[in-house]
Amino acid sequence: MPALSVQDLHVRIKDAQILRGVSWSVEHGQTLGIVGESGSGKSMTVLAATGLVGPPLAQVTGRAVLGAPHSSGRSSGGPDGPASATLPDGGGQDLLTLSPAGRRAVRGRRIGFVFQDPATSLNPILDVERQLTEGLEEHLGMTRRAARGRALELLEMVGIPDPERRLRAYPHELSGGMRQRVMIAIALSCDPDVLIADEATTALDVTIQAQIIDAVRDLQERLGTAVVWISHDLGVVGGLADEVVVLYGGQVVEQADVLTLFAQRSHPYTEGLFASRPRLGSAGGHLTTIPGSPPDPRSLPAGCVFYDRCTLRSDPRCATHRPELVPLAPGHLVRSFCATPVRDAPLDPEETA
Ligand SMILES: Nc1ncnc2c1ncn2[C@@H]1O[C@H](COP(=O)(O)OP(=O)(O)O)[C@@H](O)[C@H]1O
Ligand code: SF4
Ligand SMILES: [Mg+2]
Repeated sequence: MPALSVQDLHVRIKDAQILRGVSWSVEHGQTLGIVGESGSGKSMTVLAATGLVGPPLAQVTGRAVLGAPHSSGRSSGGPDGPASATLPDGGGQDLLTLSPAGRRAVRGRRIGFVFQDPATSLNPILDVERQLTEGLEEHLGMTRRAARGRALELLEMVGIPDPERRLRAYPHELSGGMRQRVMIAIALSCDPDVLIADEATTALDVTIQAQIIDAVRDLQERLGTAVVWISHDLGVVGGLADEVVVLYGGQVVEQADVLTLFAQRSHPYTEGLFASRPRLGSAGGHLTTIPGSPPDPRSLPAGCVFYDRCTLRSDPRCATHRPELVPLAPGHLVRSFCATPVRDAPLDPEETA
């Protein structure tokens, strides 16, 4: 059973249909990359799935099933914890039908979050120690002393030098990279089954970004955490993910394992993201972008939602019909009438870093 699986997720806010049937899943110990330009629905997917966005603001339908806790790594709680509040059908729990209290208990404990801007996610008036130990005391019932010991361990784990001193620091005393490492330490503190990182390295320079990605990869190997890594940058996603989902206009337009996605990408939008990804060594150089802009979820075109920007539109159905997400090969799904691999080149690992 996957650590987290999102099934046919629809989100509507007023007259905007923001997600239109998004499905994906991530296995324990694996990384799912979600990629797409700003506005494609990446954040909404995880916010709606975890109940951070919902009624009355948004109408949400579908399922978001959190699997049984992973057995590797440390224990994630006692028998009375929310982790054991499972459904009879296969041991998962649907986050969309959980009570608000149940969802709050899951967040932070079984699902950890890291968002783009640690300056707003960290509390400016609390020191690192307090922010790290809060969840340990609240969710795991640790004593202050035990939580402090664990906090030191966590800071070390995410590669923060001199953790004793850093425990006493306030967020403004840390660099952007250090703050983001602290966020990751907090997100991992209760040994969650799933870590959701939404543009977690976007604000950082490429060197720090690469260090943080290395740290996450290393932690994931040790802890068996499932990671959902969200980025607008296909290069970043390619360096970390096992499986990649490409979102456009609130739908999955392509999905495959990372090697297939890079070598046999087939949707013209994926090709556009591929061509426009920033590369190491080209900092400051000219970046290609996909001409045009993403569709407005309040007035979607009648045909393919990528139609306006598509360089391959030739099928008469492109203007009038919405393509379905169909398998091009086992495990490789594409939503396009012209779905044929547009490139079949071996993957150069340097290119995805
Ligand atoms: N609170 C909201 N109210 C109305 N529309 C929203 C809200 N949040 C996001 N949207 C819209 O939903 C779409 C998807 O947004 P988002 O998930 O944030 O995209 P991404 O994370 O890929 O940049 C966008 O068109 C955005 O304008
Ligand atoms: S369905 Fe047509 S317009 Fe849409 S991406 Fe494929 S070729 Fe382009
Ligand atoms: Mg976002």
